[in-house]
Amino acid sequence: MTPRTALITGASSGIGRAFARELAAAGWTVTLVARGEDRLRALAEELGPGHRLLAADLSIPEGQALVAAELRRRPVNLLVNSAGAAHHGPFAESDPLDALAATRLGCDALVTLAHAFLSGARRGDALVNVSSTLGSTPTPGLAVYSAGKAFVTAFSEALWHEQRPLGVHVMALCPGPTAAEPEPEPEPTSPAPIPPASPPRRHQDAPAALVRSPEAVVRAALRALERRSTRPTVVPGRANALFVLAARTLPRRALLALLSR
Ligand SMILES: NC(=O)c1ccc[n+]([C@@H]2O[C@H](COP(=O)([O-])OP(=O)(O)OC[C@H]3O[C@@H](n4cnc5c(N)ncnc54)[C@H](OP(=O)(O)O)[C@@H]3O)[C@@H](O)[C@H]2O)c1
Repeated sequence: MTPRTALITGASSGIGRAFARELAAAGWTVTLVARGEDRLRALAEELGPGHRLLAADLSIPEGQALVAAELRRRPVNLLVNSAGAAHHGPFAESDPLDALAATRLGCDALVTLAHAFLSGARRGDALVNVSSTLGSTPTPGLAVYSAGKAFVTAFSEALWHEQRPLGVHVMALCPGPTAAEPEPEPEPTSPAPIPPASPPRRHQDAPAALVRSPEAVVRAALRALERRSTRPTVVPGRANALFVLAARTLPRRALLALLSR
């Protein structure tokens, strides 16, 4: 892909950060979006001169409007919607405000930014919405998260079809469990590292064959973008692709019984 401009949400950690690093290394100019400004600044410094950052809370309408306005003021060639947060536990025992905040972040913000981007997009531009393999599997204990990801996958697939004749590529990126490599130990003389916003996920309970690194997920997405894949959905890793296939074919009751173990 010709290096151009990209805006990445959730850019300070995990898959979003891996997108930022990979694209910047390939010569793209990136705008980094997340809430924590210090972590964004540290990443922008690591990436080198010319990149931008925008601190915004995408779980509130004001934050969504701020980033949408940025996309209209400075259109980019690639939007990566990666910001997301899991909402764990039995739904009836959870705080409904947390569930609603997760939905505003995972669904409302994504729709708002997709619209701001696509209304100015031109042939050759691309939109990547980070969904999950759990978007194919209603998951007890992650009811709001898996339902939100089902929305993201279906929304992205429909947009893929709408945008195809216009030459704008839309992708539902559906990673399985994604575990960051441990950060290298800092040099004794380096300044204290900025602590992570949330502890890194290890996915020790997930079968190892399903777990990928953020870098592997991003490379699979960029390869598919490069060749303008004829499929709307990208599932990184063969085992994850089989998981999604099985989830789509198994009777719902059997699937729910399996996932609630
Ligand atoms: N990790 C996995 O196993 C996995 C698997 C499948 C799909 N996914 C999906 O992949 C995406 C990235 O996940 P990840 O695990 O790589 O991310 P992560 O390491 O948990 O990082 C989340 C990113 O989103 C930002 N963020 C969180 N809340 C935000 C808010 N209210 N407003 C703006 N930014 C916010 C965080 O920065 P701040 O906290 O500073 O805002 C951070 O940059 C998500 O959509 C996730 O659902 C993850």
